[in-house]
Amino acid sequence: MLVYLDNNATTMVDPEVFAQMEPFFVKNYGNPNSLHSFGSATHPALRKAMDQLYEGFNASNEDDMVVTSCATESTNWVIKGIYFDHILNKNKNHIITSSVEHPATIMSCKFLETLGVRVTYLPVNKDGIVELDSLKNAIDDKTALVSIMWANNETGMIFPIKELAQIAHENGALFHTDAVQAVGKISVDVQDADVDFMSFSAHKFHGPKGVGGLYIKKDHRVTSLLHGGEHMGGLRSGTLNVAGIVGMGKALEMANSYMDFEKSEVRRLRDKLEDALLQIANVFVVGSRQNRVPNTILASIRGVEGEAMLWDLNKQGIAASTGSACASETLESNPVLEAIGADKELAHTAVRFSLSRFTTEKEIDFAIDITTKAIKRLRDISSSFSYAPSWHKSRL
Ligand SMILES: Cc1ncc(COP(=O)(O)O)c(C=O)c1O
Repeated sequence: MLVYLDNNATTMVDPEVFAQMEPFFVKNYGNPNSLHSFGSATHPALRKAMDQLYEGFNASNEDDMVVTSCATESTNWVIKGIYFDHILNKNKNHIITSSVEHPATIMSCKFLETLGVRVTYLPVNKDGIVELDSLKNAIDDKTALVSIMWANNETGMIFPIKELAQIAHENGALFHTDAVQAVGKISVDVQDADVDFMSFSAHKFHGPKGVGGLYIKKDHRVTSLLHGGEHMGGLRSGTLNVAGIVGMGKALEMANSYMDFEKSEVRRLRDKLEDALLQIANVFVVGSRQNRVPNTILASIRGVEGEAMLWDLNKQGIAASTGSACASETLESNPVLEAIGADKELAHTAVRFSLSRFTTEKEIDFAIDITTKAIKRLRDISSSFSYAPSWHKSRL
């Protein structure tokens, strides 16, 4: 049996999404910008997909929804765009983000630091969440942008985006959120949250890879980084990825229609796996369930090195992760666990399980059986682990 429990890294394209995309590879392959019928044949589907994006995020018709190649591009664009629009040659020179953002945010901020921008990386509390007071204390009249994720990719913890955006606005700063891990798991309503910019990526909600987007609130501008053929209203040049856009629109529509299922059935299976893991001594899970997206578990397993666990599980047909998929080859300790104050040893033992609406009860039962045995086996051969109950939950 092969069980995929790494849906925060990427998801399977829903077959219904794929069916909508398929005609745009071999049959309707025209360039939408061409004046002939091959080009115009793509227009109705593109229009529908854009409507699905606006509706799916409850954006207003006056807002911009710009399709990009992925959330990494969207986030790089907005952070570097803010530099050109609000920092370079202006009075403001400060950006605030959190210490547990995806590398797309952290590395964009680090790059701006080399250009002289002041960046504050807010700490998170024991639950892995940025506290409102910490933003209130860091923000000042020089802050151009606050960029904080909607949900964390490793812990699944949900951030208080509406309240954080409000604090940013009260202090004259713009607010961007990386909503990659929130879309499809919890309601993402740009008007309700009142965000100025939002990044998303289709492959995290059963859409295709290589397509994402940046939501830009009306009357806001972000200097283009990709100049060329004036696609997307001149905001982001590059021939449109027709199949990708069609797939992303359909995937978002489906993700929203599965939201109740996500909150009930996916959560039930996640909780079943989590309960079974917590039965094992010295296994801890980060963050309260109430404040976590329904599909994610970040478990810390004392005495079991995260990478060893991953290889062991993989050999037996279970795909999990030690943290961010993009960084897993570095074999470093889990930076999110370090940020929430876990000691170095605990931070090395993190394993992430992330489910999807395609995960079945049979798969979870199999995962429980295999994981329980793997933990015992790896602890038995570990020279440093002792079953003595000296490690206490409060150390997390
Ligand atoms: C929270 C978060 N932001 C951004 C990204 C980047 O997404 P993409 O690789 O599709 O650009 C990821 C992917 O893991 C993510 O989890």
